[in-house]
Amino acid sequence: MSTWANLGLQDSASPLMEQLIFFHDHALLILVMITVLVGYLMFMLFFNSYVNRFLLHGQLIEMIWTILPAIILFFIAFPSLRLLYLLDEINEPSVTLKSIGHQWYWSYEYSDFNDIEFDSYMIPTNQLSNDGFRLLDVDNRIVLPMNSQIRILVTAADVIHSWTVPALGVKVDGTPGRLNQTNFFINRPGLFYGQCSEICGANHSFMPIVIESVPVNYFIKWISSNM
Ligand code: CUA
Repeated sequence: MSTWANLGLQDSASPLMEQLIFFHDHALLILVMITVLVGYLMFMLFFNSYVNRFLLHGQLIEMIWTILPAIILFFIAFPSLRLLYLLDEINEPSVTLKSIGHQWYWSYEYSDFNDIEFDSYMIPTNQLSNDGFRLLDVDNRIVLPMNSQIRILVTAADVIHSWTVPALGVKVDGTPGRLNQTNFFINRPGLFYGQCSEICGANHSFMPIVIESVPVNYFIKWISSNM
């Protein structure tokens, strides 16, 4: 989860988020190089001695400073497209979780296992335990197995919501009348926090997501105790 003064991305807990962070760093590096170059050129304008004040055209330099930026943009566009298609890949999921957005809570269905379903509400600050995270903890957590491909189906019952868990690199809109799909792979145990990220009404900020990532045998135990 994000903690105090964390201005960057959260640590990744899935291969897709790892790729997203790599792409972010790659794009940022190109951005910094462009900013430094343009900054240097603009700064040097202060010391311009106007030696070329009669210059009216220069075909070659025009060609260079048109084509060069276009080539640089390809170095962002191709990795970006690669990642876009990688995020959409479905790799034979072993568990499917359906999450439905409501104003203002999430409800979940494990349709693989004899219809386990429950609502997940934020715990209000006045009921929070001392080790709880304010505005982030819920009464019923999602339990999912680590090291497994997980499919998530997202929809909504009233308005558009967005099921977003930064550490896993997942952000899918839940739209009434539609069923969106994505998948992820959690590569360590722990708690992963998320929030709705589609402005969905007065209590938009208060419908967090908590995933409890556990080893597969713990997950089977949890499933069988709930069936
Ligand atoms: Cu649901 Cu914002």
